[in-house]
Amino acid sequence: MPLTDLSKLPPLPIPLEQAKRIAAYRAVDENFDVKTHKVVGVGSGTTVVYVAERLGEYVDKNTNFVCIPTGFQSKQLIVSNKLQLGSIEQYPEVDIAFDGADEVDESLQLIKGGGACLFQEKLVSSSAKKFIIVADSRKKSPKYLGYNWKKGVPIEVVPSSYVRVLADLQNKLQCKSASVREGGSAKAGPVVTDNSNFIIDADFGEIADPRKLHQDIKLLVGVVETGLFIDNAEKAYFGNSDGTVQIQQ
Ligand code: 5RP
Repeated sequence: MPLTDLSKLPPLPIPLEQAKRIAAYRAVDENFDVKTHKVVGVGSGTTVVYVAERLGEYVDKNTNFVCIPTGFQSKQLIVSNKLQLGSIEQYPEVDIAFDGADEVDESLQLIKGGGACLFQEKLVSSSAKKFIIVADSRKKSPKYLGYNWKKGVPIEVVPSSYVRVLADLQNKLQCKSASVREGGSAKAGPVVTDNSNFIIDADFGEIADPRKLHQDIKLLVGVVETGLFIDNAEKAYFGNSDGTVQIQQ
């Protein structure tokens, strides 16, 4: 099927948006196999917008693939690009998933959850045979996680446990600072996730051992999931505003 030639499209007026789009289009074109990939995970955030846009170009009468969302925004992206919507309950085995990231280290370990969708993002990506990251190059850490991303590790918690988890993060895990994310739909009060939970952002500085930190946080009562994605991603596509894409695998 004829896909839009990216080089023939007028560049987006904002260089950062152009960087996200070239990363997303290239990631889809190089990894999505329309003949064999029947269940496709679609992540959340501003870069995945272009993944859904590109996947939409693969839809025609001969294709038959279903897209699994990772949250409310992702569901809207799937529908608005005329992609077929499914759920992870209906399709627990995902052929390929695409998502953004807040930070990616040299070993493809990730911080995610800047958009508060980390639980469903982890559910979908860990159910996928292939998990591909799309991002602009600001997300690439030259060293540790926590090098560029200074907002802390997002942690989804059961609302009634937030005081206990905040205390445990500081007393048991020596976190530098932690707070419940504010700015929910009413712009006052906590952000509430698609699963009716809260998000705590916990600053651990530079994270030398993300696997250990993930395991330690998961042991705290009240924690549903962490935004540390360990050994999950296969490849990351980083778009630059000069039009080039860097691939890490
Ligand atoms: C949402 C996420 C996003 O994928 C992450 O925040 C990256 O978003 P963007 O592509 O807008 O930079 O983890 O929970």
